[in-house]
Parts: sequence; C-alpha cells; structure tokens
Amino acid sequence: VNHLIGIKYITKDDIDLIFETADHFKEVINRPIKKVPSLRDVTIANIFFENSTRTKLSFELAQKRLSADVISFSAAQSSVKKGETLIDTVNNILSMKVDMVVMRHSSPGAAHFLSQNINASVVNAGDGAHEHPTQALLDSFTIREKLGDVGGKKVVIVGDILHSRVALSNIFALQKLGAEVKLCGPKTLMPKYVESLGVKVEPNLRKALEWADVANMLRVQNERLDVNYFPSTREYAQQYGVTKELLDSLNKEVVIMHPGPINRGVEITSDVADSQQSVILNQVENGVAIRMAVIYLLASKIKQ
Ligand code: CP
Repeated sequence: VNHLIGIKYITKDDIDLIFETADHFKEVINRPIKKVPSLRDVTIANIFFENSTRTKLSFELAQKRLSADVISFSAAQSSVKKGETLIDTVNNILSMKVDMVVMRHSSPGAAHFLSQNINASVVNAGDGAHEHPTQALLDSFTIREKLGDVGGKKVVIVGDILHSRVALSNIFALQKLGAEVKLCGPKTLMPKYVESLGVKVEPNLRKALEWADVANMLRVQNERLDVNYFPSTREYAQQYGVTKELLDSLNKEVVIMHPGPINRGVEITSDVADSQQSVILNQVENGVAIRMAVIYLLASKIKQ
C-alpha cells in the first residue's frame, strides 16, 4: 500500500509496525538533536481544505524531523478560491516534483479519490465524517503507552459520533488491536452504521464510565449542527459532560482522552482536562512520532 486512506484498509500487523517505528522515533525526538536524515530526498505537500492546528503542525514537524522538504498549502489562501479543481490543484503541486501529499478535506472519500487520480502517495489527514487514520493511531499508541497494551482494554467513545471521523477510525483501530469498544451519546448524534460495526451503545454516561478503562471524549462539532438540534449545549453538558465530581464518584481511575480542540465545560470540565487522569497532551506529543512513522514507512516504498 502506498497510501494511508483509512484504518479500515490496514491490518493489525501494519498497525504494530507503525507503533514499533513510532517507538523508535519517539526516542529520537526526545534526544538533544531531534532530527534524522532519513527523508532528505523526499518532498511532501500538506494540503488543508479545512482548519487544523494539531494535525497540520504535527505532520509538518514530523516531516521536518525526518529532513523531508515540506510545502504547506491552505486552500483558503489559494487559487481554489478562484475555482481551480482538486485534481488540477494537486497536479500543479506535483509538477514541482512532490512525492507525497497529506490532505485534509471536508468531503468523505476525498483522499481515496485523490489517490486514484494522482501519481503520488496520499495520506488522509481527515476526510469529512469518514476517517482520520493518524488520529486513531496516535490514540491507540497513547493507550498502549499508558496501560501497557490496547488488547483487552475497554474503551468508550463519548459524544458526537455522527459527525466524527475520529470515532470511525478509532473503532476500526481498537477492534483490530483487540479492545472492547462502546459508544455513548445522544441518539440524535448516533449514526445508523454503528449496529453494523459490532459496537454496543450505552446511553448512560455514568454506566459507560463504570465499565470503561478509557473514555475518549469527542468534540461536539457545533459547526456541523443545526441551530435547533437536540440536545442543546447546556443539556449535552449535563448529560454527557465529564466533571471531576463524576470521575471521583466512580471508585476507579478512567483514562481521559480528547482529540482536541476541546469545548471546555461541554465535553469535559477544565479540572478534568487538566487533571493527571487526562492524557490529552500526551496524545498531541505522540502525534509527531506516529506521523513520522507513517511518513517514513510510506516513503520507504516510494524509494524502492
Ligand atoms: N485532532 C485534530 O484533528 O485536531 P486539529 O483539527 O486541530 O488538527
């Protein structure tokens, strides 16, 4: 495979190899000299049609730590605004001798479409509500780091499952790695596909947390919601928001994750986000090592 389009299309062995490679790069980027010369002859374009802080910056940093040449493209400031198509845009960039494209796009399937139409490796940095594979890899890598293994662990994904590419990629990754997965959230934010994926839904947050080793608290994607949607932000926070009081009443320690950006006081309160139970900044830190591993492994195939 010369692309990373989704976790659905890779195997447990692929994930294990990415994790072993990321272990190595995590050790490298904690050295005084954080850079390796591995990709000195590789050029990568980061093409973002949607906003991003963590994914865009950590891909860029991962590429720079590997000594690749990097160009970053934000559609909002480009000739896309003059009507240029996706394929024309990318083929123009590729004519500058680019080997790999990392793309975020609002349309599900955009990364797959691109991979079928251009002559370069494609890494999906999030395509609509479809997949966000590197986020799921860094999430499972963080669980493995915190709890020793992903296999056998109980993970509840809480919140806006309907609009979430993070949820779908996490379900695939966690199932491939042998974790048990439950979903928790309002019915209005639960997609129909969940039944076909073999995951159970626990509508009660307290029961879900009593069951879980790990809770991945998804962002409520307000930008994709109708103004009249149910529940309102206040109702959501009351029923599905994790507070310190709730966690303290469980008599067990649940690892708290969040892909970011956080709506503080909605999915989780600040005292939970900033507590020692939270691994949110560990997830961001691990994003660099995971993206280094993905790019390094794909680039090795380009160079063959
Ligand atoms: N987790 C995540 O994808 O964050 P960004 O949208 O900031 O990249």
